[in-house]
Amino acid sequence: MLTVADNKAAKKKLYVKTYGCQMNVYDSLRMEDLFKSQYELAQDFNSADLVILNTCHIREKAAEKVYSELGRINQEKQRLKNEYNRHMVIAVAGCVAQAEGDQIIKRAPFVDVVVGPQSYHNLPDLVKRINNQEAVERICLDFTEEKKFDYLPEERSSNSAAAFLSIQEGCDKFCSFCVVPYTRGAEFSRPQNDIITEAKRLVDSGVKEITLLGQNVNGYHGLNEQGQISNLGKLIFALEKISGLERIRYTTSHPRDMHDELYEAHALSQKLMPFLHLPVQSGSNNILQAMNRKHDRDTYFAIIEKLRIARPDIALSSDFIVGFPGETDQDFADTLDLVKQVGFAQCYSFKYSPRPGTPAALKEEQVAEDIKSARLQKLQNLLTSQQHEFNNSLEGKTIPVLFDRMSDKQLLGRSPYLQTVCVVKNKEQFNQILPVHITRGGPHSLTGEVVNC
Ligand code: 5AD
Ligand code: SF4
Repeated sequence: MLTVADNKAAKKKLYVKTYGCQMNVYDSLRMEDLFKSQYELAQDFNSADLVILNTCHIREKAAEKVYSELGRINQEKQRLKNEYNRHMVIAVAGCVAQAEGDQIIKRAPFVDVVVGPQSYHNLPDLVKRINNQEAVERICLDFTEEKKFDYLPEERSSNSAAAFLSIQEGCDKFCSFCVVPYTRGAEFSRPQNDIITEAKRLVDSGVKEITLLGQNVNGYHGLNEQGQISNLGKLIFALEKISGLERIRYTTSHPRDMHDELYEAHALSQKLMPFLHLPVQSGSNNILQAMNRKHDRDTYFAIIEKLRIARPDIALSSDFIVGFPGETDQDFADTLDLVKQVGFAQCYSFKYSPRPGTPAALKEEQVAEDIKSARLQKLQNLLTSQQHEFNNSLEGKTIPVLFDRMSDKQLLGRSPYLQTVCVVKNKEQFNQILPVHITRGGPHSLTGEVVNC
C-alpha cells in the first residue's frame, strides 16, 4: 500500500461515490475518464486528493445521505490537513448539486466546488485552479447540455463487457412528483452519429452489451447523418449493424413515447434484448391524472399488448409510487390490480417523497406515513412473488448469459431478461456470452451450469 509520503511521487488519488440512477453511474465513469491521466482510482476517501460525490435528489432520503457522507469526508480532509498539510478537494456533483447549489456550501462550507449534471466537464480546470490556490467560482450549474458531450474525452474506459451509453438527457414531462425536469433540464438528444461512434469505441474495447440511457430514452429525437430527426427504434436498427456488438438495451422509458419503429425493433432486431423497463407509477386513473403522467391505465395495457405481440417472451419491469397525495384505498387497489393483470418480471417501488419545488409537494391531502408503509409492503410482497414466479419459469431452460462480474467462487452474468445468473467460477468464461442450463430460479437470481458446446 502507498504511504502518504510515497503518494507524492505516484499519481494522485481520486474517489468517486455514486448515488441514484444509471445516468449517474454513466456520468461518474465519464468523470473518472476526465481525470484518468493524473489520478488513480481509490476504493474509499481515505488519503484521497480528490473526492467527488455524484448525488441524487429524487427522494429525500437519497439527498440527506449526501450530507452525512460529507461530514465523514470532512473529518478525513481535516486529518490530512493537520497531519500532512495536504488539501483534499471535495466536489459535489449531480442532482443535489443542481437543486441545492449554494445551500450545499452553506451547510457544508468545506466543500470546494459544486457542479451540476450538465457542467461536470469543467471539473479538471476547476480542480487544477483550486490546487493552485486560485480563486474559482465555487458553484457551476451551467445548463447547456450539448457542450458537455463536446468536452468529454473521446476515450471511454470500460473494463466490463456491459456498458452504459447516454443518448438523451433531461425531461419535459413534468410529472407532478418529480424533480428531474428541474435538476436535469429540458430534453436533449445527442446526434445519432456521435452515439454510433461512442458505441463503436466501446465495442473495440471489448464491450458486448450496451444499455442506451436517458431519462426519457424512448423520447430520443437526435439528428441522423442526413440532418433528419431520428427516433429510438431507428437508432437501434443503426446500432445493430455494429459487428461485435451482441446486445442492446435501453432505459428509462415513458409510456407516452412508445412508437411504431420501437415495437418493430422489439419484433425484428436480433440484438435488442427481450426486456423493457416501462414505469407506470400507479394503476389508478385518478392518481395518474394527478401525477400529470399523460397516460391512463388502458393506454398502458394497450402498450403491453402490442409489445407482447411484437416479442411474445418480453419481460417487463416498472416503477411504482405508493401514497401519492390523495391516494385512496381504491386507488391503491387499482395499482395491485394492474400489477396482477400485467405480470412483471421485476420492479422498483417507493413511498411518495415530497420534493421541494414540485407541485405534488404542495398538495394538502398528503398520505400518512404508516399508510404509505403498509401499502408499500403489500405491493412489494406481490411484486416479489411475481419475480420469483418468473425466475422459476426459467428452470430447466437453456439461455444465453453474458458473464460480466466475478466473486470469490462464482461467475455472475445477465440473462436476456436482465436476471442475475450465477455459475461456478471459471475465469476463462468471464466477459463471454455462453449458454447456461438453469437449475434453480430463486427469488432474486438464477443458478445454472454452463453448457459445453
Ligand atoms: N417520491 C417517490 N418516488 C419518486 N420517483 C420519482 N420521484 C419520486 C418521489 N418524489 C420514482 C419514480 C421514478 C423513479 C426513478 O423514482 O417511480 O420512476
Ligand atoms: Fe420524472 Fe416523469 Fe420525467 Fe420520468 S417522465 S423523469 S418521472 S418528470
